[in-house]
Amino acid sequence: MKALVLSGGAGTRLRPITHTSAKQLVPVANKPVLFYGLEAIRDAGITDVGIIVGDTRAEIEAAVGDGSALGIRATYIPQEAPLGLAHCVLIARDFLGDDDFVMYLGDNFIIGGITDLVEEFARCGADAQILLTKVDNPQQFGIAELDGEGRVVRLVEKPTNPKSDLALVGVYMFRPPIHEAVRAIKPSARGELEITDAIQWLVDHGYDVRSHFVSGYWKDTGRLEDMLECNRKVLEGIEPACHGRLDAESRIIGRVVIEEGAVIERSTVRGPAIIGRGTRIVDSYVGPFTSIYHDCLLERTEIEHSIILESTKIVGVSRIEDSLIGKEVEVSLSSTLPKAHRLMLGDHSKVSLAF
Ligand code: DAU
Repeated sequence: MKALVLSGGAGTRLRPITHTSAKQLVPVANKPVLFYGLEAIRDAGITDVGIIVGDTRAEIEAAVGDGSALGIRATYIPQEAPLGLAHCVLIARDFLGDDDFVMYLGDNFIIGGITDLVEEFARCGADAQILLTKVDNPQQFGIAELDGEGRVVRLVEKPTNPKSDLALVGVYMFRPPIHEAVRAIKPSARGELEITDAIQWLVDHGYDVRSHFVSGYWKDTGRLEDMLECNRKVLEGIEPACHGRLDAESRIIGRVVIEEGAVIERSTVRGPAIIGRGTRIVDSYVGPFTSIYHDCLLERTEIEHSIILESTKIVGVSRIEDSLIGKEVEVSLSSTLPKAHRLMLGDHSKVSLAF
């Protein structure tokens, strides 16, 4: 069995972070979202992994490399533009050959892995297996309608008037008939080759498409609130560890991971939280559900329930909450008169100032 991981696309809902970076590399508890998926695939015993890459190819390749550090063998499959999930299957034909495969959306986050699902698919004779979960906002997902016996009858991508609240989760399992399906369908109104249409084609042509309900935690990490929620979930389960340096005036409370080379001076870190390697926390308070990535500086700052990417400096700011701050950002308190907020923000930035 092989895996096809989709790591192209645009990531418009996480702008401005995704103007410069791949959304699949935004860290959750200091590990890129994509790595959780690749590890789940490896844990299910699949090592041959094709990764669809788009404009952010260089960044994804730099992070994943040949995959050996994650226990997989990565093959990169470039996609010229985000032409749809089924388009990814189309261009991966040579890599996939006639093997069965798992298709995994690189921005999806599942706690508990996919091992049982892969084993079940290997056992059953179905031509495809989809995962479903109930959602409150079905307009934002691919939606499945089932018959009285739980068989898939209809799949609709982001319906305006949804007939069910069962969303497709971004993990699909396929046998070779899917290749005929992706060749047969036409682009949707939004110009994409939809995987929902390809699966519908399988249903309409008498193939056996089974559904499975996801019992554990699942999230599409497309939006800020979803990233913060995933970060919370992972931090709740971290094992405390201190590989950095802490001075006598600092306090660590609860589940806190301090990575190699991190320094905490005259500060309090109240977990669950993670402080990345090479980061310095000085005269500051880091509150619950906060992940600070590598080589950051926080000085005279209070922060809680936030994700900070690498090499960012925050000095004299009190207090930051519910925030996602990108790489190499500088946020500081100015004493220059006139007293004013001085901002240099990228396109699509969102700032909410407190007076
Ligand atoms: O998260 C579950 C949902 O994922 C499903 O319910 C929907 O049926 C499915 O279409 C998909 O919807 P999204 O709008 O969330 O898909 P998104 O455009 O975010 O793409 C998902 C992943 O696939 C993401 O990592 C980017 C990548 N991708 C996407 C497209 C359209 C590619 O690599 N190439 C593409 O052409």
